[in-house]
Amino acid sequence: MQSQVTLTTLYKMKEKAEKIVALTAYDYPFAKIVDESGVHMILVGDSLGMVIQGESSTLPVTMDQMIYHSRIVSRAAKFAIIVGDMPFMSYQASIEQAVANAGRFLKEAGTAAVKLEGGAAVSEIIQAISGAGIPVQAHIGITPQSVHKMGGYKVQRDEERLMADALEVESAGAFSVVLEGIPSNISKKITKALTIPTIGIGAGPHCDGQILVLHDLLGLNQGHVPKFVKQYAAIGDTAGTAIKRYANEVQAGKFPAKKHCY
Ligand code: KIV
Repeated sequence: MQSQVTLTTLYKMKEKAEKIVALTAYDYPFAKIVDESGVHMILVGDSLGMVIQGESSTLPVTMDQMIYHSRIVSRAAKFAIIVGDMPFMSYQASIEQAVANAGRFLKEAGTAAVKLEGGAAVSEIIQAISGAGIPVQAHIGITPQSVHKMGGYKVQRDEERLMADALEVESAGAFSVVLEGIPSNISKKITKALTIPTIGIGAGPHCDGQILVLHDLLGLNQGHVPKFVKQYAAIGDTAGTAIKRYANEVQAGKFPAKKHCY
């Protein structure tokens, strides 16, 4: 069995121009499938607010919910590095609170790292968490926790600011940075300028790695599908068909059959 991915693995992959495969997961059975499929990095994203809890944004997600899901995912993963996503208001109010909450991910949930949103504005927070020995992944471009400030989930095109944010989070000690909703030519320049791996979502092919939300990739998401998503399956339709067949058979008295009875 291959040994578990570490930060060193990720740095070496960037050096060798080997693409890093990242995906979200939130529960045991899917985390196990994702891990056994050879994905290098599993993010327990606060996107769970939308894809698991049915919220319209990630804002209501709490620390306790993130710890609960991260712990389940960590239990399933034997290969991928696990990153726990710090939810809205778990790191913004004070540096002390940010460090304490980041520590909960490693101590209570078994993740190897945490992710938080923001660039230069959160560099002191990244520095403090990283200084406490906790690897931090930054996240710039579209930052869904700032949806109201951004006026929606809009592609971010201010090249100067994005580059400054990327350089700032790297010097603050981030081990990696997620680039979300950024034109390809800008993420190409950022990826070249940084020594840490960039992980793109809606940021084109030049990033060091790619991440998608698992439910988007599997076609489990019934709502709007963003342009950057490729659906590799239609699991939602498959599940719906199976459940309808079950319902029909129960109503028709066909299930359970003799072989299902004691
Ligand atoms: O919460 C999440 O799933 C994320 C990814 C989309 C990067 O932040």
